[in-house]
Amino acid sequence: PKALLKRIQEDGDKLQVLANQHIVSVEQFEADTILQLFRLASKYESNPLRFSDPLKGKILISAFYEPSTRTRLSFESAWHRLGGDIMSITDRATTGIAKGESLADVGEMFNNYGDCVVLRESNEDSVTEMTSTLRIPIINAGNGTREHPTQAMADLYTIFKWKPELLENNGTKIKIAVIGVPSFMRTVRSLLKLFALFPDIFSEVVLVHDSDETEIFTPGQREKLEAKGLNLTISRTLDDILPTLDVVYINAIAWVGDSYEEHGTKFKLDKNSPLKEDAIILHPLARGDELSTDLDETPHNWYFSQARGAVFLRMALLTCMVERTERVLDVV
Ligand code: CP
Repeated sequence: PKALLKRIQEDGDKLQVLANQHIVSVEQFEADTILQLFRLASKYESNPLRFSDPLKGKILISAFYEPSTRTRLSFESAWHRLGGDIMSITDRATTGIAKGESLADVGEMFNNYGDCVVLRESNEDSVTEMTSTLRIPIINAGNGTREHPTQAMADLYTIFKWKPELLENNGTKIKIAVIGVPSFMRTVRSLLKLFALFPDIFSEVVLVHDSDETEIFTPGQREKLEAKGLNLTISRTLDDILPTLDVVYINAIAWVGDSYEEHGTKFKLDKNSPLKEDAIILHPLARGDELSTDLDETPHNWYFSQARGAVFLRMALLTCMVERTERVLDVV
């Protein structure tokens, strides 16, 4: 297959398909669209003011009905950096939802007030319920256990930033372990789907968990990923495989219903873990005891870069969804 780098250079118009689109799932994306988004994100990362206020005069409705540090603030930071204005809702009880108003009706109102919605909701179906009446684009910023598409994009953006030669299709492969439960963790679900778009690179993924075998996948989830070329192996231990890994993705929190559950807390990383010298650690954060702060000052720490890069990735996505993409692509 043609080198991914070549595809980034040649297919600039792939971003046009994002104009005015709702972003609900990673499944909506082709590999080349993701690569073009990364290209634009890297332009923003090298110069956040590159396109002088492309969203000036546009309003973001930032609706987070579930706790968030990174996703809400990085979306809002991205929008501010693009020159737009923001209305933020951080408690659904302050809206008509507390009076029984439907999300479809809320969506109808949002059409009048803003140009784009970012929604985090525990209920998996809320984002699609809102799309029934929304005429402005919405981004799923985490819907229950289902998906968190922009987090997975930020994760993959980090991996390509760490090892750009992966884009050369020169046979470089990496071994990655994902410590998490794909049935419960939306970040893991979206990430595995994204890996499946690049089976030449992520052909071998080790899933590390300590849950009941029957609970780690939803029905058909594993088969669907494997049909796309992902070779998933399962491990119930971590330390014995750590010395073989290039990337260690760890997460222990899942939002289930209206609260969080912890999974795999027996797997812990600290500066004495037997990591390869050049291995990197990714974590969507927030962290618990599974990721020791004594790793923060080591070269294994790519989780802070992951959180930082999410701003530029979100800037790229928002620009393409809300602004006429040609204006930006003309000067990329
Ligand atoms: N990664 C992530 O979704 O973090 P927040 O819950 O802080 O948004």
